[in-house]
Amino acid sequence: MYNKTDDIKYKENLKKKIFQLKKERDAVIIVHNYQRDEIQDIADISGDSLALSQAAVRADAKVIVFCGVDFMAESASILNPDKIVLLPVKEAGCPMADMVTIERLRAKRKQHPDAAVVCYVNSSAAIKAESDVCCTSSNAIQIVGSLKDYKEIIFIPDKNLGRYVQHNIPDKKIILWEGFCPTHIRVSKEEVLMAKKEHPDAEILAHPECNPDVLSVSDHICSTGGMFSYVKNSKAKSFIIVTESGMLYGLKKANPDKEFYVPTERLVCPTMKLTTLGWVAHSLEAMECQIKITGDIKERAYKSLARMLKVSGEKSGAAISGV
Ligand code: 13P
Ligand code: SF4
Repeated sequence: MYNKTDDIKYKENLKKKIFQLKKERDAVIIVHNYQRDEIQDIADISGDSLALSQAAVRADAKVIVFCGVDFMAESASILNPDKIVLLPVKEAGCPMADMVTIERLRAKRKQHPDAAVVCYVNSSAAIKAESDVCCTSSNAIQIVGSLKDYKEIIFIPDKNLGRYVQHNIPDKKIILWEGFCPTHIRVSKEEVLMAKKEHPDAEILAHPECNPDVLSVSDHICSTGGMFSYVKNSKAKSFIIVTESGMLYGLKKANPDKEFYVPTERLVCPTMKLTTLGWVAHSLEAMECQIKITGDIKERAYKSLARMLKVSGEKSGAAISGV
């Protein structure tokens, strides 16, 4: 039988254990904004994909525990080849990242030999290795805009982020890929408008992975990290958050005087929610699951990530060497 007091005690004990193990292992816990509330509470660093890549570069610890999905841990390993990177749950993947294969990407390149390949970080290390440069949702426009020598861009794998970039950079031809985020496409424009009707003073903030009609009714389109900065600086008192619902916990914590709403309860990424306190404790105790990218894939994927970090303004010399 579920007992709330026992549950709280159980979680507190796990947090103590994690804290102890973290010291013993010399570990840092990096947490994506979509993680469970209790995982956000144990974060040394939390943020969006770009901030976490940058944090991984600066991490001053022997071990990085990456509470997110596998492509994020892979990037942390590529950027930190001398550190041990742990992904607490091996099965925590990103379905969008699986929507592109090397064979199909090579075929696309053959069709468009003059195009550069820009790859959203939600992709495997092998796909990053096949690409010219990576981007995240917070710097996609900046990265594509920086490719002055290219008129055509093959943008993989997210068609919605690609369309959003096309809208903002009309003088380039963005060749879209048929990938998408199964979580972000769950919300409809009607649901967003209904939420607005219920909260007429609220500003609508949407992630660019949402469908274009959802974006068309939003006040501001940005990454999860961009939402934090926007809310902090906005005079508005309430916000409709159109992205994974894990965002609400962090936003409320950082802005206790403001209100946040989601347009639907369906905005939950199942794989982001796989990481629990129990798995984080196990991961540090057993030093599992270690994510290590090596060899030629690591070298080439590093170049794509490092080019992105260079354009995005990451200051670390280590991050941008060999580009
Ligand atoms: P952010 O880079 O905005 O955190 O997004 C990552 C992601 O997986 C969105 O679904
Ligand atoms: Fe992948 Fe979407 Fe989950 Fe982000 S929210 S990790 S893009 S499935």
